Amino acid sequence: MSPDAAATDWIVLKFGGTSVSRRTRWDTIGRLMRERQADEDARVLVVVSALSGVTNELQAITDHHADAAEVARRIDALVERHRAYCGELSIDADAVLGERLAALRALGQDPRRESGALAWQAEVLAQGELLSSTLGVAYLRTQGMDVDWLDARDWLQAQSLPNQSDWSRRLSVSCRYLGDAALRERFRGNGRLLITQGFIARADDGGTAILGRGGSDTSAAYFGALLQARRVEIWTDVPGMFSANPRVVPDARLLSRLDYEEAQEIATTGAKVLHPRCIHPCREARVPIWIRDTERPQMAGTVIDHRAATVPGVKAISSRRGIVLVSMETIGMWQQVGFLSDVFERFKQHGLSIDLIGSSEANVTVSLDPSDNLVNSNVLDALCADLAEVCRVKVIAPCSAITLVGRGMRSLLHKLTDVWSEFGRERVHLISQSSNDLNLTFVVDEALVDGMMPRLHDLLTHSGAMPVDITEVFGPSWKQIEPSGGSRREPWWRKQRARLLAAAQTDSPRYVYHLPTVRERARGLAEVGAVDRRFYALKANPHPAILRALADEGFGFECVSQAELEHLFSVLPTLDATRVLFTPSFAPRSEFADAIARDVWVTLDSVYPLQHWPELFANRQIALRIDPGYGLGHHEKVRTGGKEAKFGLPAEALPEFIAAARAAKARIVVLHAHVGSGIQDVSHWPQVYAQLVNLAEQIGTVSAIDVGGGIGVPYKPDGEDFDIPAFAAAMADIKAAWPQYALWIEPGRYLVAEAGVLLAKVTQVVDKLGQRRIGLDAGMNALMRPALYNAWHEIVNLSRLDDADGVPAEIVGPICESSDVLGKRRGLPDATAEGDVALIATAGAYGFVMANRYNLRALPVEEVLDV
Ligand code: LLP
Repeated sequence: MSPDAAATDWIVLKFGGTSVSRRTRWDTIGRLMRERQADEDARVLVVVSALSGVTNELQAITDHHADAAEVARRIDALVERHRAYCGELSIDADAVLGERLAALRALGQDPRRESGALAWQAEVLAQGELLSSTLGVAYLRTQGMDVDWLDARDWLQAQSLPNQSDWSRRLSVSCRYLGDAALRERFRGNGRLLITQGFIARADDGGTAILGRGGSDTSAAYFGALLQARRVEIWTDVPGMFSANPRVVPDARLLSRLDYEEAQEIATTGAKVLHPRCIHPCREARVPIWIRDTERPQMAGTVIDHRAATVPGVKAISSRRGIVLVSMETIGMWQQVGFLSDVFERFKQHGLSIDLIGSSEANVTVSLDPSDNLVNSNVLDALCADLAEVCRVKVIAPCSAITLVGRGMRSLLHKLTDVWSEFGRERVHLISQSSNDLNLTFVVDEALVDGMMPRLHDLLTHSGAMPVDITEVFGPSWKQIEPSGGSRREPWWRKQRARLLAAAQTDSPRYVYHLPTVRERARGLAEVGAVDRRFYALKANPHPAILRALADEGFGFECVSQAELEHLFSVLPTLDATRVLFTPSFAPRSEFADAIARDVWVTLDSVYPLQHWPELFANRQIALRIDPGYGLGHHEKVRTGGKEAKFGLPAEALPEFIAAARAAKARIVVLHAHVGSGIQDVSHWPQVYAQLVNLAEQIGTVSAIDVGGGIGVPYKPDGEDFDIPAFAAAMADIKAAWPQYALWIEPGRYLVAEAGVLLAKVTQVVDKLGQRRIGLDAGMNALMRPALYNAWHEIVNLSRLDDADGVPAEIVGPICESSDVLGKRRGLPDATAEGDVALIATAGAYGFVMANRYNLRALPVEEVLDV
């Protein structure tokens, strides 16, 4: 019989300290017990922690064991706290807790106190759970429930392990958890609704033992396994496990379904929701674990079981702080025999367990995780002194370990290019890939971590390495669950639906641009007071109406080709040339000559033009584009900095450029950098400014600093608007530090992306081998971004906007290429049919302008709405 079929009628629920410290929370516990009994015909065992803060207090009592007065004072405070809580629960403190509180007082007088005997400590620590469980039973009985109290020590038996110290044999025990039918039969005699204690067990000698950290979760798991429960529910104050720490990464997604191995890995590498120790017993007994949120009991949370479909991909990214690296260099010969055993022996002697290992012929670097080790400077000094006998040793600390967790890491490497390049900007001390193919860990300086986590999470979702579209695994984002209020504006096209549907009846596909939205974004940027001049990068969308609207808003323009310049001046013939930047890339000499003849600002990004066509630049003011050494942005293909990118002059080549400019009699008055596109981090532009100021000081003739474009927009409905007030504040700070330069920016996407949509008609709906495909009359010919950058655009059925989402489908176009997919796994309504109008949102930037006539399909039409 499989363990599943043997599942008994028990459901185990665990509640932590905050969940038992308020009367209303006990009402919730009572309700959940009754529901499980009534709706699922289950027997319910509730495992509770001590009231919040009580275990810490008890710990303090054991720490101060030698000080009788201090112990007595702390015990008095605890007695008082529990009596007061009885008041809140309207139960009689003497009748319910009299005996227990007397036992607590007696421990203060116990002869074993003075020496702090381990058995005495265990008994002291156990009092918190004994008290809270007793209170809970009494309270629920006053609410008419037939609940019984169970002593956990009668069922959980500590197990001795080899090499166990006396301390861990008493205060950090593991328990046997494989029960047989006879035990389960005996257990049924206890009643149908039970409350017991987490954290405590029976020691070998019959006394009390403590489970150590993560105690109550582990108790629940032990009971779940012993009873072959239907499931163990861990009730806590977050909705479940997330793809990253939601406090640091608001885009982190709830993980709805995990298998035991992945859950174990996520818990071990940093997530605090579930203690890693509690997974193993449930996994062995195949008991599902549910993580649920006491504040949001209706949410499904995380389910961990062995039936979770194994989906390859990164499920979570976590970080651990306080990591210490020990780097050891052989003194003797390379590949010296016995070197590893010599060094590891010394770690063993100091009781240190090693987490990660990296090695080369002459060096071994290992990490020590503070959660497994007592790592302090005394221990480290002693270790280093010993290691110095056999190698050259260096300690690198404080570090943090960033771990990507998920099935099949090795087969994902090609999707991690963006992640690798993100790490490429920082110093990585150690990389380690686990032998079970479930994790990949990078150790970096601790200070870097918080800033990196949101970016890495973003890169993982964008690259497809974290398959967030798989709804069985990935639930809502933290931002959706707990909106901060500052999330995304309502898109204009919802209000214009009728007009758009009418327009779509004529030529299709069709781009529609909403000028009021362009103006709104322009005015948002105008509020960034520290910026002196704004140029619109018209490559994003050169529609004449948009150029006119932005000129009216006071914008200048940035052009990349002679054709863009010609177009700009044909639309705006009276535009002042000083409002125009020309920033070409590998353009021919003739285009430079044309721009100079027009008297616009000309930017050089290598020394070639100065050396080969010096006469063009004689007695002219020029701008210089710098490559600050790194690229940023939503996809590798839009990053324009660093060695791999063709753009910009590296800072090292500045002296040569200055000399060539001098020789050509050109004067460098603007320094420019643009490292990529689709950046949300407001600190990026001030950083560029600071970097360029540094170089400007070496040049001496610079009066303006252009920090480029690249401002990101939210493509996903749960995305966040670019934080203009934060951007304004960051720019004001940096400008205040170096006010002598004019500050210029040149955004493209930000001004137009959300103002544009692509309307297309449904051509066919086809199911092939279980995959549903919705065909549109627009594909990668009309909008290249999904095929080229894996870009995600929201796609809705405008004709059936209010219908519920249906089976996930692939949205494809009419082009003869497999990459002709506009969206994967999109839940368009099931009734979607030929002739419906689909809307592809946020298509105003790099949409029509990159469209092409491949397969000789016509270009989409364009239309502008001005209200
Ligand atoms: N300045 C320079 C020198 C640029 O090269 C660009 C864009 C911008 C400003 C404007 O960047 P924005 O603010 O729009 O991010 N086709 C890609 C984007 C390519 C961007 C090229 N350069 C996409 O669809 O994502």
